[in-house]
Amino acid sequence: MPSEQETTTLSAEQHETLSALVEKYRSNPGSTIPILQDVEGHFGYLPEQALNWIADRLDIPRSHFYGVATFYAQFHLKPRGENIVSVCCGTACHVKGGTKIAEQLHRDLGLAPGEDTTTDKMFTLETVRCVGACSIAPVVLVNSKVYADMTLKSASKLLKRLRNETCQVHYDDAETEG
Ligand code: FES
Repeated sequence: MPSEQETTTLSAEQHETLSALVEKYRSNPGSTIPILQDVEGHFGYLPEQALNWIADRLDIPRSHFYGVATFYAQFHLKPRGENIVSVCCGTACHVKGGTKIAEQLHRDLGLAPGEDTTTDKMFTLETVRCVGACSIAPVVLVNSKVYADMTLKSASKLLKRLRNETCQVHYDDAETEG
């Protein structure tokens, strides 16, 4: 059974969403992947509290949820940034410098070793395997948009532009609210 502490860390609205999911899947608790997709779709990642809460109520071992969540790259156990920068490090991209680009963007974002998301949650940097665009390698994807023939310089420039645009959007939002 979930502890009191676990049930109090989720907001009322989140409890409502999870309760609806429990009802939706109660008659078919074998649907682990759709359940995880729904939770990730709502939260943007899989919060531990939410996973435990829903697993306990559907009587699914928590370990099963975590096993599936860590097996598939589509699931994330940590919050992700507002912008997802994916550097392809498949063979064609690696040969043309993809891995070095990933290292440089990691430095440019000021990420600590082993970290992939900036502290302001604006960016998540990830490496991916071949995205099927080898003829234009090396490629970088920003929020799924593909950028071709990247170099260390053009990748840094792209990131800088994206940072400026993101700051501008937040500045404009603040102005509108003010
Ligand atoms: S290896 Fe990067 S697109 Fe194929």
